[in-house]
Amino acid sequence: MLAPSWRIIGKKVYWLSIPDTKSRLFENIWPIPNGVNYNAYLIAGDDEYLLIDSSKAIFTSEELVRVIKEITDPSKIRKIAVLHTEPDHSGLISGILSRIGNPIVYSTSRASFFMRSMFNLETNVVKDGDEITIGNRILRVIELPWIHWPDTMFLYLEDEKILFSSDAFGAFGALEKPVFDDEIDFVKYMHEAKEYFATVVVTYRQMVLRALDKVSRLGINPEIIAPSHGAVLRSRIKEFMKELLSWCNMEKKRKITIIYGTMYGLTEKLAEFAKNIISRKVEVVMHNAVGNDLNHVLSDVLDSAGVLFITPIYEGNIFPPITNLIELMRIKKLGEGKISAVVVTKLWGGAAANKIPILLKDAGYDVLSPVREYVNYPNESDLRDYEDFLQSFIDKVLENF
Ligand code: FEO
Repeated sequence: MLAPSWRIIGKKVYWLSIPDTKSRLFENIWPIPNGVNYNAYLIAGDDEYLLIDSSKAIFTSEELVRVIKEITDPSKIRKIAVLHTEPDHSGLISGILSRIGNPIVYSTSRASFFMRSMFNLETNVVKDGDEITIGNRILRVIELPWIHWPDTMFLYLEDEKILFSSDAFGAFGALEKPVFDDEIDFVKYMHEAKEYFATVVVTYRQMVLRALDKVSRLGINPEIIAPSHGAVLRSRIKEFMKELLSWCNMEKKRKITIIYGTMYGLTEKLAEFAKNIISRKVEVVMHNAVGNDLNHVLSDVLDSAGVLFITPIYEGNIFPPITNLIELMRIKKLGEGKISAVVVTKLWGGAAANKIPILLKDAGYDVLSPVREYVNYPNESDLRDYEDFLQSFIDKVLENF
C-alpha cells in the first residue's frame, strides 16, 4: 500500500498526496484497479497555515497529521477550507480537527449545511468573490456548484497563480509520490483523466463549461492547477484544457463502441464478427458488459459516434448487465447525439428485445430499428442479414457524424 507524502508546489504551498490503493471501487461503483489519489494542500502565510480539504478515511487522521508535522507544527493550522463535502475529501476532517486545535473552517453555504448534517460541524460561510486571508496572502473564492456536488468552490491563490480546482481537472490513479504533469507518462495519465470524467463528472459537463467560462471571465489564468485527484498541472494545462473541453462538448470521433453481454460466448462471437466488419470503415472498440470494463465502456462511449449493443435475452428479459449499463448512460446523458443499434440472441420469446430501444431512447440515443433478433448463433443466411444490418448501422453513424 502506498503511503501519504508531501511536496512543495509553490512558495510555501504544500501538496499532501494521499494515495488510495486499497479501495476497489470509487464511489463504490467505478473500478479503480490503479487506485486514486486524494489531494489536500497546505498554504503558509506569515505564521499561520490554511489546510485545503483532507482525505477519505483510507488512512487515519493521525497518519495525515504525521505528514503535516514534517512540514509544520499542526497547531499553526488556523484555517481549513472545504472545497466540497464529498467524503473522499472530508472523511478525515473531524479527526484532523481534534488533533490540531480549533481552526476556522470555511465552506460555501450549501457545504455548510452538509457539514452540519454530516459531521455536526459549523463552518464560516464564504461566497463568490470573497477572500480568505492567510497572513498577507489572499485566496479568492469562486463558487462553482455542481462540479460535481452542489456545494463546490474553487480557490485561487493570487500571488502564486495556483487554482485549487476540487474535482475538476482530476484523474483516477494513485500516485506513488506527488508528481507534476511533466513528470509522468501524460498520454497514459489522460486515459485515467478521461475515465474519471466519463464516470464521475460527465453528468455535469455543462456546469464544467460554465465554470471554465467563469474562471476565464474573472481574468484568472492559472500557472498551476491543483486538483483534488491526480497530478498537479503546470506544463500541460493547455493540453488538458483542450481535452476537457472536447469531453464536455462530447465531441464525436469516427468511432463505434461495441458493448456485448454474453453467457457462453455466442454473442461474443457476434461482437467479434461486427468488430471485423466495422473496422473496415471506422475505428471500433469492443467491451464486455460484465466485469471490470465499466470505466472503459463509458470513456469510449463518450467520444463514439455510434454504439452497438449485442446481447442475449435472459430468461425472457433484458440481460441485467446491459440494463445496468444503459441506466448509467441515461443518468449520465451519454446517448445525446449518438446513434445506437441492438442485436439480440434469444431462446425465449417475449418482448424484451423491443424494450431495449425504449431504454436507449430514454438515454438520449437515436436507435436504428428494428432490433436484429437471432435464435442462438446465426446461420449462414442470418450472417448475411447481420452483415447488411451492420452496414446500415455504419452508414447511419457516418451520416450523423
Ligand atoms: Fe472527489 Fe466529489 O469528490
